[in-house]
Amino acid sequence: MKKLDGIIALIAGGTGNVGEGIVRAFLKEGATVVVPSRRAEALDQLREYLGPLATNNFVPLIGQIGQIEGAERLRDEILNRFGHLDAVVASLGSSWDGNLPLTQVPMEVWRQYLENNLTSHFVTARTFLPVLAQQKRGSYTLLGGSAAEVPIPNYSPVAIPAAGQLMLTKVVVEEFRGSGVRINEVIANGWVLTRSKAGYGKSDWITADEIGTFTAHLASDEANMVNGSIINLNAVPFRSLFCNSQREEFATPGQNSFPPESHTLFQKQV
Ligand SMILES: NC(=O)c1ccc[n+]([C@@H]2O[C@H](COP(=O)([O-])OP(=O)(O)OC[C@H]3O[C@@H](n4cnc5c(N)ncnc54)[C@H](OP(=O)(O)O)[C@@H]3O)[C@@H](O)[C@H]2O)c1
Repeated sequence: MKKLDGIIALIAGGTGNVGEGIVRAFLKEGATVVVPSRRAEALDQLREYLGPLATNNFVPLIGQIGQIEGAERLRDEILNRFGHLDAVVASLGSSWDGNLPLTQVPMEVWRQYLENNLTSHFVTARTFLPVLAQQKRGSYTLLGGSAAEVPIPNYSPVAIPAAGQLMLTKVVVEEFRGSGVRINEVIANGWVLTRSKAGYGKSDWITADEIGTFTAHLASDEANMVNGSIINLNAVPFRSLFCNSQREEFATPGQNSFPPESHTLFQKQV
């Protein structure tokens, strides 16, 4: 018997770098995993990455979970097909390598990151939390980054929506208290070793699959007592690592503020 046998899970952002590890872990634990994406090619790519795990338990759906209409259509499709939904993981939003101070962030970048990194979470929570609450059970897990709490210069398009996402979590935890739904946010501190960072990532960084294993545990009955928690994985004292001298060295306009060498700053500390 596997941890998630028989459960229907929705992994929003499952086509992403971190999402891939989450989808793989849920499939390994026996869940039926629904992955929505705006892009058919991203779902095809994910199927290829999953290899033999992409059985009938892998359910790719084209749709726009970041907009009300799209999210409601996905919700209806899932409920019509399976009759229930047991777990949601929202691993939505991307990083930014624009490396500009807030005063120089172009308006279109600001709007794009608000949309992708915060509004997508708002719409997903607004659409799927009521489904879980109506069933009086289920888990809802948000994936976040430490930029939510640590002010990193030249990273405002990610940091400010991330802070909003964290507050969204805290608000829904209060609003759904006593509903039977367990809501938690998992914060990945520093970089995650994903497929896209395979060329320069360090072997001791936390991996997308490790995050997957942890979020699968959170969705299982084993974690029934975990609710309303903000859980930091791979905790590194971010502020102390990003002292001014390091930042100035990396802050060449047009360059990524976090070049591969700087990633050693985010190593897992045990
Ligand atoms: N990667 C890291 O090193 C790292 C470190 C710390 C924290 N995190 C956190 O992990 C989460 C995921 O990051 P990632 O690196 O996996 O990002 P990613 O590879 O860029 O993937 C982003 C995912 O979000 C979806 N998405 C983005 N905007 C959307 C929108 N407007 N509507 C619907 N779906 C949207 C994309 O779906 P489509 O298929 O539709 O494009 C894609 O699946 C974020 O919350 C991030 O803060 C990541």
